[in-house]
Amino acid sequence: LKTAPPLQLAETYFKHFPEETDPVWGNPCDDIRHQKIWSKNKSCDSLPRFLVIGPQKTGTTALYTFLSIHPAIASNLPSPDTFEEIQFFNANNYYRGLDWYMNFFPTDPNSTNRYLFEKSATYFDGDLVPKRAHALLPHAKLVTILISPAKRAYSWYQHTKAHGDVIANNYSFHQVITANDTAPKPLRDLRNRCLNPGKYSQHLERWLSYFLPQQLHIIDGESLKSDPMEVMNEMQKFLKIVPVFNYTTHLRFDPKKGFYCQIVNGDHTKCLGRSKGRHYPPMEERSLKFLQRYYLSHNTALVKLLKRIGTRNIPQWLKDDLTDSP
Ligand code: A3P
Repeated sequence: LKTAPPLQLAETYFKHFPEETDPVWGNPCDDIRHQKIWSKNKSCDSLPRFLVIGPQKTGTTALYTFLSIHPAIASNLPSPDTFEEIQFFNANNYYRGLDWYMNFFPTDPNSTNRYLFEKSATYFDGDLVPKRAHALLPHAKLVTILISPAKRAYSWYQHTKAHGDVIANNYSFHQVITANDTAPKPLRDLRNRCLNPGKYSQHLERWLSYFLPQQLHIIDGESLKSDPMEVMNEMQKFLKIVPVFNYTTHLRFDPKKGFYCQIVNGDHTKCLGRSKGRHYPPMEERSLKFLQRYYLSHNTALVKLLKRIGTRNIPQWLKDDLTDSP
């Protein structure tokens, strides 16, 4: 048996086990030995109990806002870097470590029974996210929102354009989605970022290879728009939160905004900002047809997946996308 100073020892170790150079943060409370050597200030109660995983542009901010109204639910502190989202499991933030992540969830000794959660919409399609999330939060519940992937792609394009992306401003939506593999790389990259998250079944299968179907709650994004009170009721049932918070007295449809907003000061409504529920021209018919064809196999696989995990109602947009597909 040989030993060496820590640095040398680490170098030798990783020469033998190169696949272990990428860290995976496990849950310290899963092993009594780890828990014993953990800081006294840390507790697994201050890790999130559920994650809203996205994908982007499906109504994740509305859901986040509605959840934050709930007296028993608390979100992370906002991150100044990433538009409030922590984006821990998918990006380089993961290498900042567990303490960095946990600092977003300060323990509040005065409040009991808080359901901590975080929402990072890019988790949904991140390759490594399910594995990493499961290693740290094996018992966490997952919430995803799905809308028509064609509609999602269009909303994402509009969002990216509004943020001043040069490629999105130089190419029409139709040019982006139909760009072929001989197109300039920045255009292909934009196309992939626009279209890939909408391959819902692929991403959900990856999540389901780590988490049980019972841990996953799928929200129909169209219902979130038309009847958020019912969506929030279902959500509370899924999270087993009692007593149930009555959202009918906290949300109201705002005709000016065209969406449900939070009721504040008795008679006023507080809606999401202008970047949520944007005004843009309807999608061209040829783009819609192209995307319905593009997503056909993915949508067919999604129906199978939903049936397999016991989803009672197949969303209407999914039926429409499949029947309207040319
Ligand atoms: P559009 O701006 O394209 O209409 P996300 O928060 O995930 O980025 O999603 C943004 C989308 O949320 C908006 O897309 C909008 O359609 C949808 N949405 C759902 N409920 C909403 C609400 N109550 N207020 C504003 N937008 C809402």
